[in-house]
Amino acid sequence: MYLNREDESILNGDKGVGLQKAMELLVALGKVYEADGLVEISSAHLSGASYKTIGEGGISFLEDFSHDVKVKVPSTLNPLGMDRDRWAEMHVPEQFAKRQLRILELYAKMGVRTTCSCTPYVGNNVPKLGDHVAWAESSALSFVNSMIGARTNREGGPGALAAAIIGKTANYGLHIKENRKPTVVIEAQIEEEQFNYSLLGQAVGKAIGNGIPYFRNIRPEVESAKTLAAAMAASGAVAMFHIEGLTPESGNYDVSSLEKITIGKRELSRAKEDLNQIDDPQLLAFGCPHLTIREIKEMASFLEGKNKKGDVEVWFCTSREIRDACPEEVKILENFGPVLADTCMVVAPIEVHFQKAGCNSAKAANYLPTLCSQKVKCDSFARLMEVVL
Ligand code: F3S
Repeated sequence: MYLNREDESILNGDKGVGLQKAMELLVALGKVYEADGLVEISSAHLSGASYKTIGEGGISFLEDFSHDVKVKVPSTLNPLGMDRDRWAEMHVPEQFAKRQLRILELYAKMGVRTTCSCTPYVGNNVPKLGDHVAWAESSALSFVNSMIGARTNREGGPGALAAAIIGKTANYGLHIKENRKPTVVIEAQIEEEQFNYSLLGQAVGKAIGNGIPYFRNIRPEVESAKTLAAAMAASGAVAMFHIEGLTPESGNYDVSSLEKITIGKRELSRAKEDLNQIDDPQLLAFGCPHLTIREIKEMASFLEGKNKKGDVEVWFCTSREIRDACPEEVKILENFGPVLADTCMVVAPIEVHFQKAGCNSAKAANYLPTLCSQKVKCDSFARLMEVVL
């Protein structure tokens, strides 16, 4: 693996222990994946932000790193285990909150933007076509690889942080053009409804694992594309997809000899069945991935003039900047439950209070049973809201 003179001197520890550790990590990853060298990145997006997922071990790791290094490229952070101001409303224990705030402090000390969202690509971290980046949120990295044509591997939290600190990442996998070609054609026969994109993603991820699908017959808006990306990354390990006539690299490949899979009504119903275990959720949580302005507006217009009944809790999850951008609509949603920023239903410790959750996201429905010990109801926003209307 080629390193230039400056990289070598960082590796030898000439520029301090923090940079040395970051470089060691990148070189170790590069050797495992047979990278030919390092490539400069224009941004990073870091996971490993929730105290629930990284624990005390993660805090020690960040404390070590944050001693003497700062990130070299614009870097954003994934959701925390709580809204940093409204954690008590989420039933988060005080001890958890204290440790979570410490994590936030450590990232901020390193110069990471603490917006804490899994959709920074609609906010303050938007790569361009052809940019090399190091992103570590499976739904977000798939979105930027596919819809924008930026280039990132499915980074882990420590790898993305090391890349952010050095300003480079190991050059292998999806950084290389020939590895970005589709591996299977998906003939989609679905109605254009956002929840169907969740189910489509669930079915495709299950069917192709870590392949690169080339979709025909779909034309998702940003919101449906983020839902699709998230679902495929959770039910499988899809890090990139193409959509005929829509995504920027879809015209680069001849797909005529690829295997074809048709996904229609029957496959969607099967996917939905797989994701549903209960009918009586105690919590309805929306915003996986984080809600966009358009979604908040649509939800507000659906709920305007209606009243909430019963004691099932409703949460809406988004980024701080998106919450601040639509105060009128947020007011309407708040009649039903808190609009939370910086966090989500999967990385928050919801299991301390709830055992049964409802969501309109296949990604959340995949993770809620394993990471949050929940039984799940997964359906469209409108159908789930019937529980409280
Ligand atoms: Fe985002 Fe949490 Fe879903 S990080 S993609 S809202 S599991």
